[in-house]
Amino acid sequence: MQYQEGMLRDGALQGKTIIITGGGTGLGKSMATYFLKLGANVVICSRRIEVLETTAKELTELTGGNILPIACDVRKTEQIENVLTQAIEKFGKVDGLVNNSAGNFISPTERLSYKAVDVVVDIVLRGTYYFTLALGKYWIENKIKGNVLNISTTYAWTGSGWVVPSAMAKAGVLAMTKSLAFEWADHGIRLNAIAPGPFPTKGAWDRLFPEELAKKFSFENRIPLQRVGDHQELTNLAAYLISDFSAYMTGEVITLDGGEVLAAGQFNFLKDVSEEQWDDIEEQIKNANRSSKKSE
Ligand code: HXC
Ligand code: NAP
Repeated sequence: MQYQEGMLRDGALQGKTIIITGGGTGLGKSMATYFLKLGANVVICSRRIEVLETTAKELTELTGGNILPIACDVRKTEQIENVLTQAIEKFGKVDGLVNNSAGNFISPTERLSYKAVDVVVDIVLRGTYYFTLALGKYWIENKIKGNVLNISTTYAWTGSGWVVPSAMAKAGVLAMTKSLAFEWADHGIRLNAIAPGPFPTKGAWDRLFPEELAKKFSFENRIPLQRVGDHQELTNLAAYLISDFSAYMTGEVITLDGGEVLAAGQFNFLKDVSEEQWDDIEEQIKNANRSSKKSE
């Protein structure tokens, strides 16, 4: 068995209908693919209907599953309600929501216009709480034990320069995940999140690691496990969290980043010390121990 392979058993999501925002591209498309393979009905939505339709056609041919593409800007509540209405009309009910849509780009914060901050925060934070609220009301009214998976980032809690609007918005999403996990547990509704490290996608790479930067900073050197993530690794975790196998888990945020977030460890700079240098260092420390014993 390899990490590039599907992990859950066939039919693990049979009978479930799951909405994936931003499901036409990148990680959203990969999750849609795996959920369909596991038997779910999948609704993908985002702004560009032509992208969604192309993805839907491709995934129908690949998996033979049921996929419904619907145009929706997650900042518009009437468009979110339309997605819900159409999903119920086609599939009878909705069981799960993956809040995966995002807007992001690197920039020194002082270069941003007010609108540039708004556009990122509105897609990531407002879009996520609008969609979650719409589904939550529907689930509570219809006594459905719904399940929400939010795609966050590790800098939601470490913070990060140069992506400040995204960091603020993703932090808000984490606060919502934990808060609602407690509040809606009475209704059997669960919320969890994944904080991914780098998983190559065109959307993220064009805006966060443009060629100029990619040449200078290699992931192999920065990530403790010395590679970027494989989409199947993330979709395996996502499928588990959106399935009933994770029924006892709520309010959790799982980091999947090859150890990238651990880089802050105070002594991690010692990574570059050679074996010979360690021989000298060990000797120096032992000498210091011996002389402090003598002077006692
Ligand atoms: C400074 C910028 C800018 C940049 C846009 N703006 N790009 N400012 N530097 N590089 C400003 C514009 O000038 C404008 O402000 C405002 O932002 C809105 O830009 P528009 O292009 O008009 O908006 P829109 O077409 O809606 O585009 C939204 C977007 C875009 C967020 C700016 O990037 C987008 O559509 N993104 C969707 C996909 C995406 O971002 N995927 C990456 C997700 S990866 P003014 O005032 O000039 O009008 C991720 C985590 C990755 O989230 C973590 C990696 C490890
Ligand atoms: P992506 O392919 O660019 O995905 C972003 C999606 O969001 C697109 O499909 C886009 O579709 C949609 N979107 C943007 N604005 C929207 C809006 N207003 N309404 C509805 N949908 C909108 O990038 P990705 O890398 O797969 O990112 C997916 C998720 O993973 C994001 O939440 C991101 O923050 C997170 N993430 C990614 C990485 C990584 O390394 N790739 C790391 C950490 C976290 P339209 O343009 O058609 O609207």
